[in-house]
Amino acid sequence: MVTLKKDHEIQIMKQAGRIVADVLQLLEELVRPGVDTLTLDEAAEDLIRKSGGIPATKGYRVQGIATPYPASLCVSVNEEVVHGIPRRERVLLEGDIVSVDVVVGVGRYFGDAARTYAVGEIPEARRRLLQVTHESLHRALAAVRGGATLGDVGYAVESYVKSEGFGLVRDYAGHGIGRHMHEPPQVPNYGRPGRGMVLKPGMTLAIEPMVMAGGERVVTKSDGWTVVTADGSDAAHFEKTVLVTPQGAEVLTPWE
Ligand code: MF3
Ligand code: CO
Repeated sequence: MVTLKKDHEIQIMKQAGRIVADVLQLLEELVRPGVDTLTLDEAAEDLIRKSGGIPATKGYRVQGIATPYPASLCVSVNEEVVHGIPRRERVLLEGDIVSVDVVVGVGRYFGDAARTYAVGEIPEARRRLLQVTHESLHRALAAVRGGATLGDVGYAVESYVKSEGFGLVRDYAGHGIGRHMHEPPQVPNYGRPGRGMVLKPGMTLAIEPMVMAGGERVVTKSDGWTVVTADGSDAAHFEKTVLVTPQGAEVLTPWE
């Protein structure tokens, strides 16, 4: 069931979202050539717990995946799209792009956001992929308001990403969020204007376009979690948790 959040619930979601944003801010400094992805995870978990939050992905179970997710961040490098598992041996190199997704719980409520970072200087093609994916998130947010539809939001992402010549990851979607990390509705990154569920003020959504340089197919690696592009092309991922208001989208995870 899609729930409308009351003001006291929004206040707690903002606390969770503030910690999410602080983590993404901290990583801005830590993401450098030579750092391993487990070091990023440890720093994030530290900050989350010090701030009074819980790293919500740690121990999270998903139907159809045998093992619970083991870490506080998802860290996905280059052709990895989402759900990359932090590892000591995974050292970031100059020119890499790295997508970091973080979900924090505070007092039974959740905030969820992600962004892709450049590691040092990156090639122009990667810079464009990041820029287009980031912009597609902002176009999605601009389509959100009470009375708009999920189709309006999906169309905003899809039409822009396709016009820029990139592939859209269609196998994963955004989602409602609040008392659970994942709540209905699903928020696809494609759609048709005017179609789909009508948004109501008080809904809270995690909107998260995933874009790839090549085709649109993705596959899951044998660890059960890491999703990679089938053609090995680069991928990017930007996400924010927002509150639907009568006028627009209020960002609850203000990382920029
Ligand atoms: N932001 C991610 C999502 O909505 C977080 C889930 S990662 C998981 O899918 F490991 F917890 F599943
Ligand atoms: Co999410």
